[in-house]
Amino acid sequence: MKPKKRLRLSGRNRAAELAPIRPLEAAFHTLLDDLARARSWPTTKDVARLGAAVAQLSALYNSTEKRSVEASGPDALAARLLFSFPRDVPKSAAALREVVASGRLRLPKDRPLRVLDLGCGLGASTWGLARLLAPVHLQCTWIERDMATLQLASALAERAHEQGVAPGIRMDFAGKNTFDVSTFRPDFGGKTYDVILAGQVLSELDRKLEPEERVAAHAERLAGWMRALAPEGLLVVVEPALRERTRHLHAVRDDLLAAHPEAHVVYPCLHDEPCPALWNEREWCHEDLPIDLPEWLEPVAKAAGLRWQGLGFAPLVLERRAEKPAPAREVRVVSDALDSKGQREAFVCGHVEVADVAGEPGLLARRVRVAQMERDAGPASVAWDALFRFDRLRFDPSLLVKGEAPEGEPMPPRVRLAPGTSVVRVAAGEDVRNVSAGSTPPTSDDH
Ligand SMILES: C[S@@+](CC[C@H](N)C(=O)[O-])C[C@H]1O[C@@H](n2cnc3c(N)ncnc32)[C@H](O)[C@@H]1O
Repeated sequence: MKPKKRLRLSGRNRAAELAPIRPLEAAFHTLLDDLARARSWPTTKDVARLGAAVAQLSALYNSTEKRSVEASGPDALAARLLFSFPRDVPKSAAALREVVASGRLRLPKDRPLRVLDLGCGLGASTWGLARLLAPVHLQCTWIERDMATLQLASALAERAHEQGVAPGIRMDFAGKNTFDVSTFRPDFGGKTYDVILAGQVLSELDRKLEPEERVAAHAERLAGWMRALAPEGLLVVVEPALRERTRHLHAVRDDLLAAHPEAHVVYPCLHDEPCPALWNEREWCHEDLPIDLPEWLEPVAKAAGLRWQGLGFAPLVLERRAEKPAPAREVRVVSDALDSKGQREAFVCGHVEVADVAGEPGLLARRVRVAQMERDAGPASVAWDALFRFDRLRFDPSLLVKGEAPEGEPMPPRVRLAPGTSVVRVAAGEDVRNVSAGSTPPTSDDH
């Protein structure tokens, strides 16, 4: 098979254009360094010192210990400002760009978009949204339990606007509050928001609870946050792409959907049925975008023993709606392309046609391993030739799976694409990689 590359599709394969996701602009580099220098913290020039702080922060975030994460000392804040912030800004944009391309995010005509960022940290999720939607005017409410973090986030936002490093971005503030999101009621007093962001904060909540108890508690937290959504508003949850964190998010999703019929997944799932990734404990459904850290952070990532290539995270975008939409005959690619001699395979998830099962055959939500033999590839299936993780695809004829995977079956059904099958990418975009040639990352740390 040919090497994986993005193709510009045309004619019957034309896709809805997704906004490109870009690493943070170089203009932020000086600004972030200046903020660090003014506080006598290491800057990106102090590679060894900053690298050590970043490594320490990463170990703290990735710890599975059942204690709360305290990342607000000077070294931790320096690492968050100079490394986590630039790395994390693109994540919320990536979680929302398909929703935006489909026109699903309603932009009010007569007022700013009201945005609530829960556990905002340095505001990376808000910045990601602002960059995606620019020049849309955002009116933001930031909630962050740590005062020092919130002050730094404010200084960063103020300086960025003063220095014009973010042209086109319009963001003002309805509130910046040092509240605890565990007890904060966003809908208090009838307040509503068009977008509620919860970027990498769920991971830090209720760590002392037992796993099942924590899943149920987090499902109720999300349901509570969703009560503060304006009509057609969206809750955007982003979690680290670490297996346990992401599987926790899948389980929270399932609990939420089971207990709250008004909740509906807008992205990435194309169905509200139980998450098939949970059938197999080695699986976790996450994005891995071909976007690198800004070049000025490569030496720091190397010094910290972390990866600088690719951007991994687990998104979940939710809405409240009275009725579930009809199942779409579309699937999400949930793995990388798996190439072996003479064929390209990938796992996909979505409603597929299932036949030869007990009862009526029909459209069922499944995770399926799909293969195309190289000799069967043709112009109609060019999207399969160029597929990327999290592509949204439509097959014609639609995928037909014979026989159902038994309950709890780890191996999902397999399907081979018949010659001539058309594969259409429903939405597609070109990301800006920030090219750093060839070498592979030393670790696969995603937090
Ligand atoms: C990993 S950072 C993520 C920051 C930002 N949301 C992002 O996406 O990059 C998590 C943030 O949540 C904050 N946080 C953790 N628990 C919190 C709580 N119970 N209430 C409010 N903020 C909390 C932490 O102080 C930290 O700033």
